[in-house]
Amino acid sequence: NIPSLSDVYKKHFRIGAAVNPMTLHDQEAFILKHFNSLTAENVMKFERLQPEEGHFTFTHADELIAIAQQNNKQVRGHTLVWHNQTPDWVFQQSNGEEADRQLLLERMKQHIFTVMERYKGKIGSWDVVNEAVSDSGTDLLRESKWRSIIGDDFIDKAFEYAHMADPDARLFYNDYNESHPEKREKIYSVAKGLVERGIPIHGIGLQAHWNLSEPSLDHIKQAIERYASLGLKLHITEMDVSAFSFEDKRADLTAPTEEMTDKLTERYRSFFDLMTEYAAVIDSVTFWGVADNYTWLDDFPVKGRKNWPLLFDEHLQPKPSFWEVVDVARKE
Ligand code: G3I
Repeated sequence: NIPSLSDVYKKHFRIGAAVNPMTLHDQEAFILKHFNSLTAENVMKFERLQPEEGHFTFTHADELIAIAQQNNKQVRGHTLVWHNQTPDWVFQQSNGEEADRQLLLERMKQHIFTVMERYKGKIGSWDVVNEAVSDSGTDLLRESKWRSIIGDDFIDKAFEYAHMADPDARLFYNDYNESHPEKREKIYSVAKGLVERGIPIHGIGLQAHWNLSEPSLDHIKQAIERYASLGLKLHITEMDVSAFSFEDKRADLTAPTEEMTDKLTERYRSFFDLMTEYAAVIDSVTFWGVADNYTWLDDFPVKGRKNWPLLFDEHLQPKPSFWEVVDVARKE
């Protein structure tokens, strides 16, 4: 008798999954059983929603929203302003030259308004800006067209437009390597700046693309406390735990070894132990996928290498890590 994961965690936080048209089609009942929050893995990104200027393609996004509405599920909107999966036209004028600040701000506003107004009341929280902080070096922000054309205040603007478009939506800044001390401090200072300038931001998304060796529990704990000290809510937005440690570049396995499974189980247990400890500030924990039959990690960092980072195996059966995670909630 397999319990619903989101039921088991009802008292702690929502449990979500990133879905795509294929998993929604093939595994709808399974998804609806275990998850009470849904995120679009790709179909709400800029290039999918507005591949050409003014031509919006909402079909897949609408389908996800309809399923969520019919089944009383929350939706996290992902994502409005990102350097990736954004079409080139956004940054160009019709003559092929680069857009200027004013034009790009108009396009940003137009995109945010069109998308957020359409889903008003149906998408409770939005990843307004995704991955704007740089991974290394002294620069706070990564190089991107958004930044080089508009300036560093593109983040402020995105949040301001988002708040105008849907004043009830909870607005998040979302990033990865969020627990790495150096990047954590950069994310912290960007978010702190927003808060201090009175920009409408309500939360920080910790993507939580973790693995068998990194990050340490201490680093995760420090990140949670640091971000929460700003008075913001936290969402774990894209959780998966690679079955490989960071250094492990093997590409020939067809199934996880016993050692990997044991370690993964232990990691999941300690992550959920920690997250339940902070349930007062963590509102939701979303997995970046449903089950091991499909995960973006099959192509990253080693193209075509099978990975097993989720709580359900390739046949949608619960893995030992699932039962550990269930056990954590029941012990509380
Ligand atoms: O749909 C096309 C298909 O028509 C085409 O033939 C094929 C050839 O490459 O590509 C398909 O698109 C791929 C798409 O996923 C759908 O599978 C893209 O190439 C591929 O780049 C894209 O990857 C997505 C990635 O974001 C893009 O950066 C992953 O699915 C998605 O899981 C991943 O999600 C991101 C979050 O949005 C932000 N945080 C990190 C996370 C993992 O990278």
